[in-house]
Amino acid sequence: MSSSLTVIAVGGQTPYEVTIGRGALRELDRYIDPQVARICLVFQPPLRSAAAVVADHLRVGQRRIVGLEIPDGEAAKTLDVVGDAWQTLGRTEFTRSDMIVALGGGAASDVAGFIAATWLRGIPLINAPTTLLGMVDAAIGGKTGINTEAGKNLVGAFHPPKAVLCDLDALGTLDEVALTSGLAEIVKCGFIADPEILEIVWSAQNQIRQPASDPLRDVIERAVRVKADVVGADLRENSIRAILNYGHTFGHAIERVEGFTWAHGHAVAVGMVFAAHVATAMGLLDPTLRQAHHDLLQRVGLPVSYRPGRWNELRQAMAVDKKNRGNQSNMVLLRAIGDPTVVETPNDQLLQHAYQEISGGAL
Ligand SMILES: NC(=O)c1ccc[n+]([C@@H]2O[C@H](COP(=O)([O-])OP(=O)(O)OC[C@H]3O[C@@H](n4cnc5c(N)ncnc54)[C@H](O)[C@@H]3O)[C@@H](O)[C@H]2O)c1
Repeated sequence: MSSSLTVIAVGGQTPYEVTIGRGALRELDRYIDPQVARICLVFQPPLRSAAAVVADHLRVGQRRIVGLEIPDGEAAKTLDVVGDAWQTLGRTEFTRSDMIVALGGGAASDVAGFIAATWLRGIPLINAPTTLLGMVDAAIGGKTGINTEAGKNLVGAFHPPKAVLCDLDALGTLDEVALTSGLAEIVKCGFIADPEILEIVWSAQNQIRQPASDPLRDVIERAVRVKADVVGADLRENSIRAILNYGHTFGHAIERVEGFTWAHGHAVAVGMVFAAHVATAMGLLDPTLRQAHHDLLQRVGLPVSYRPGRWNELRQAMAVDKKNRGNQSNMVLLRAIGDPTVVETPNDQLLQHAYQEISGGAL
C-alpha cells in the first residue's frame, strides 16, 4: 500500500477500514475477493468519467460490472430509483456473494447502501465517497436511507460497508458550497470530541478550504476518527451516537423550513451556534465558548445566523425531528469543548431566546 494512505479502523460487530489519501480508490480491489462475479457500481452524474475508470479497474477475469447512474443529489433517494435498481440486480442475476460499490456524495452512499441492505436481505457494500461530507460523515457508520412523502431519511436500514475509500483527489472538483458544508461536520467533530480540529481550522483558515492542503487532510482524518470511534461503539444510536447530532436539531428545522434548499452542513453550522446559545442560557456552557462557535464557523465561510420571523415553522419542524423518542425530544448540548451531553429539549422560552439571538430579530 502507498505510504501516503491512512487507514482508520471502525470497530463494532462488523469492523471495517476507512482508507484516506490521494489515489485511495486504487486500493479498491484489496477489499474485493477475486471470486466476486458481479459488481454494481452506483454513481452520480458528475462522476461518470471517474466511474468508467473504476469500472475498468474492477473488470478482472469473467467479472461483470453493472454501471448504475443515479439522478443527482436528493433526486436519487427515492423508492423509484431503488425499485429500478432492484430490477437491474434481478435482470443481471445478482447473488448474495456479489456486491455494490457507491461512488459519489452522501446521497449516493445513502441510496446505494439502502439497495445493498435490501437486495437479498443484504449484500456487501463498499463506499467510495467523493464529497467532503461523504468522507467525514455519510459514508461511515452504516446508516442508509431514502426520502419519502413522510420526510427525509425516514426509511432506511443500518448496513455497514465492508470498506470506505476516501480518495482525496476527488475533492478538487467540489464547489465552495460542498466544501464548506463538509467543513461544518468536521468542525462539529472538533466541538464534540477533538479540540485539535478547532485549532487547525482556526490557524489554517485559508488552506483549510483548499482540497489538496495538508491541514484539510489532517482534519479529515481526525473527523473520521471521531466518527469511527462513535459508530464503532454504538451503531444503532442507542447511546453515544446521538452526540453526532450536535447542531442537527435546529439544523434539520432550517432544512425543512427552507424546503431542503440549504446545504446540510450550512444548516448544521447555524444549528451549532443555536445550540451554543441554548447551552449558555442554561448555564451549561461558558459564553466565551459560544462566541468561539460563532467566530470559528464564520472564519471558514459558514453561516452563523438565520432570518427572523420563522419561529412557528421552526418549532414545528423541531417537534417532528427523527431523533425524538416517543413523546420525548432530545437535544445535544455542550458543557465544554469535547464534552457533549444529551438533554431533554429545553422549554420554548429558552429556544425562542436562542432563535432571537441568532436571527437578531422578531420571532
Ligand atoms: N448516512 C449518513 O450517516 C448520512 C450522514 C450525513 C448526510 N447524509 C446524507 O448525505 C447527503 C448529503 O451528502 P452530500 O453533501 O455529499 O450531497 P450529494 O451526494 O448530493 O452531493 C452534492 C453534489 O456534489 C456532486 N458531487 C459528488 N462528488 C463530486 C465531486 N467529486 N466533484 C464535484 N461534484 C461532486 C453530487 O453529484 C451532487 O450534485 C444527504 O442526502 C444526507 O441526508 C447521510
